[in-house]
Amino acid sequence: MSSTQTLAQTLAQTLARHQARADAALNQWLPRSDLPPVTLHEAMRYAVLGPGKRIRPVLVYATGEVFATPDAVLDSSAVAVELIHAYSLVHDDLPAMDNDDLRRGRPTCHKAYDEATAILVGDALQALAFDVLASDPALAVDTGLRVAMLRELAVASGSRGMAGGQAIDLAAVGKRLSLDALENMHLYKTGALIRASVRLGFMASGQTDASHAERLDIYARAIGLAFQVQDDILDVEGETEVIGKPQGSDQDRDKPTYPNLLGMTEAKATARRLCDEAIDALSCFDARADTLRQIAEYIVKRDR
Ligand code: IPE
Ligand code: IPE
Ligand code: MG
Ligand code: MG
Ligand code: MG
Repeated sequence: MSSTQTLAQTLAQTLARHQARADAALNQWLPRSDLPPVTLHEAMRYAVLGPGKRIRPVLVYATGEVFATPDAVLDSSAVAVELIHAYSLVHDDLPAMDNDDLRRGRPTCHKAYDEATAILVGDALQALAFDVLASDPALAVDTGLRVAMLRELAVASGSRGMAGGQAIDLAAVGKRLSLDALENMHLYKTGALIRASVRLGFMASGQTDASHAERLDIYARAIGLAFQVQDDILDVEGETEVIGKPQGSDQDRDKPTYPNLLGMTEAKATARRLCDEAIDALSCFDARADTLRQIAEYIVKRDR
């Protein structure tokens, strides 16, 4: 067996372990579907527990690994970022936004239920994310730090984070953006929540070292951007059955993307550069940061 295969297998196992941990925590925090309002709760569970990659929770746990933080301390941050992400996908797929019918290999939330339910699912998931972070007793931090974590998530989700990026995205349909403007859009719509995932893992770990925080932030910024570049690439080169969403959706809606602006070869080179930049940023950390290093590789090599 080659060392690359061994590494791929190790990462697959680590990802599976973190994904299973996140799924169990999400399952616990989501309201039971037999509790009223039954349809809303059922739809929330449908949107969150479908077969996603859980990369944001994985980043929380992997950042915790660097500081040997117990998973129980990280669960609330992992759940909170995935709830915000799932909400963003439900709204992203609505007819008023990307108007997509397929998500994670299944009908989108507004297709499986209806548009009004999908809007409320997003609203409720967003509120639940903050509830989890505010109330989980296993998050062993003082109140000041907890408030700072809540703020971190709020800023990453709001008009100066994901929602702002989505607004830029919608305004850019049919336009040709400069590379700087496209990068900016991706950093907001996708990068902000990925950055917050790493940051929350760091904060939940009780870490305060400013140079460590800065290194992790350089890493997170690079993989956040790389993640959306690869998402753009998969819209062109992926297969609907594998990516679980309609291939060609960006092209159909004339969205500005990296392959559109730069061509496929340069888009791939950009993803590769960002991956290297991310790994370089972790040079001050020992082998406990290996999962983070492997995640950077995974993000630009993934086929879904
Ligand atoms: C898709 O995110 C939307 C983007 C921000 C690019 P993911 O690729 O993480 O979607 P899931 O959670 O695995 O379905
Ligand atoms: C979505 O970007 C970013 C979000 C904040 C949800 P995309 O619109 O490219 O995500 P997909 O391709 O539908 O998953
Ligand atoms: Mg979109
Ligand atoms: Mg979309
Ligand atoms: Mg996309």
